[in-house]
Amino acid sequence: MTVHFIGAGPGAADLITVRGRALVERCPVCLYAGSIVPSEILSWCPPGVRLVDTAPLDLDAITAEYARAHGNGEDVARLHSGDLSIWSAMGEQIRRLEALGIPYTITPGVPAFAAAAAAIGRELTVPEIGQSVVLTRTSGRASAMPETERLAVFARTKATLAIHLSIHVIDKVVEELLPFYGEDCPAAVVWRASWPDERVIKGTLGTLAAMVRAEKLERTALILVGQTLAARDFRDSALYSADYDRRFRPSAREGGR
Ligand SMILES: C[S@@+](CC[C@H](N)C(=O)[O-])C[C@H]1O[C@@H](n2cnc3c(N)ncnc32)[C@H](O)[C@@H]1O
Repeated sequence: MTVHFIGAGPGAADLITVRGRALVERCPVCLYAGSIVPSEILSWCPPGVRLVDTAPLDLDAITAEYARAHGNGEDVARLHSGDLSIWSAMGEQIRRLEALGIPYTITPGVPAFAAAAAAIGRELTVPEIGQSVVLTRTSGRASAMPETERLAVFARTKATLAIHLSIHVIDKVVEELLPFYGEDCPAAVVWRASWPDERVIKGTLGTLAAMVRAEKLERTALILVGQTLAARDFRDSALYSADYDRRFRPSAREGGR
C-alpha cells in the first residue's frame, strides 16, 4: 500500500501528467483538495472508489484516512493543485506518514506560475533583462512571512516576481514594489489560469491595482511583475546561436558537424 501524492496541475484537466492520470485511474481511494481540483480528473477514478474531499478535514482526519487505507491495503491517490513543491501542505502529511511507517511517492504537476506565464504568452527569463523568477507570497492569516523574505527584500533584485495568495492585498503589494520597479514596470494578473473562465489583465505596476478592482478578481490569481513581461528588444539566447559551440552541435566554423 502506498500514498501517491499527485500534482493535479493548475486547472485544465489535461495538464495533469500521464503518470498522475494513470495513478488516479487505478487507486481505489482518492483524496482531493476541494474545488481547486477539476471534477473531470475525479471522473477518471475507478468504479467504487472512496472519494474524499479534504477541504473540510483537519490534518488528523486526513491522516486517519491514510491509516484506514493502509489497514485495508488500498493505494491512495492524493491530489493537490498545481505542483506539490510549493504551498501544497504536503510536507506535514509526509511527516505523519513517515511517523506511521506508510510509504508514499510524489508525482509533480504543472505549477500555477507556469500556466500563468503561458496565459500571457511569455518566457519569464529573458537574456540580460531578467534571469531569475521569485516564487513568493505575502503574509496570510495563518502564515507570516519570514522577515528576510518580505516583498521589498526580493524587489531590490528587480527579478521577475510571481506572487501567490495575494490578490486580496493587491494595493499593498503595489505600494511595496513601486519604489523598486517604478510605475511603468510591466505587470499582469492571471486569474484561474488554464480554467475555462481564465482571465488575464496586463498593465503596469501603476495601473494594475485599479484594473484588478474593476474586474473584481478574487482568490485564485497570480500577480506577475517584472521587465521580462514585456521585453521585446533583447538579444537572442546563446542556445540556438550559429557560432555557439555545444557538445552536440559543434559550430558551423568547424565544418558544421
Ligand atoms: C495554495 S497555493 C497552491 C500553489 C500550487 N501548489 C502551485 O503549484 O501553483 C494557491 C495559490 O496559487 C495560485 N494559483 C493556483 N492555481 C492558480 C491558477 N489556476 N491561476 C492563477 N493562480 C493560481 C494563486 O495565487 C493561489 O492563491
